Amino acid sequence: MYKYHIFCCVNQREPGNPKGCCQSKASQTTLEFFKKTVHERGLKKSVRVTECGCLAACQFGPSVVVYPEGIWYSIPKPEDAREILEKHIMGGEPVEKFFMKKE
Ligand code: FES
Repeated sequence: MYKYHIFCCVNQREPGNPKGCCQSKASQTTLEFFKKTVHERGLKKSVRVTECGCLAACQFGPSVVVYPEGIWYSIPKPEDAREILEKHIMGGEPVEKFFMKKE
């Protein structure tokens, strides 16, 4: 059983689609960064990283949601995933500056 489950949207839409998409905001690189870092830190038995389709928060993405808390993040740059892994996943402290602001 996993302690944390990280869902990372990698949905892709055609260029010019008014909804935009997370894939156009480097979400694939963010996903790979999460997976690689979880592996490097020896967290594979307790943390699962899963790519997913649209989470219906396209304009706020790249969209990531972490369970069990159900905390939504917008990750500006793929490297920012490191801070979420270190502080939230390893340290138990969610990273407020990356909380998704759905307004
Ligand atoms: S495309 Fe990622 S939340 Fe919709």
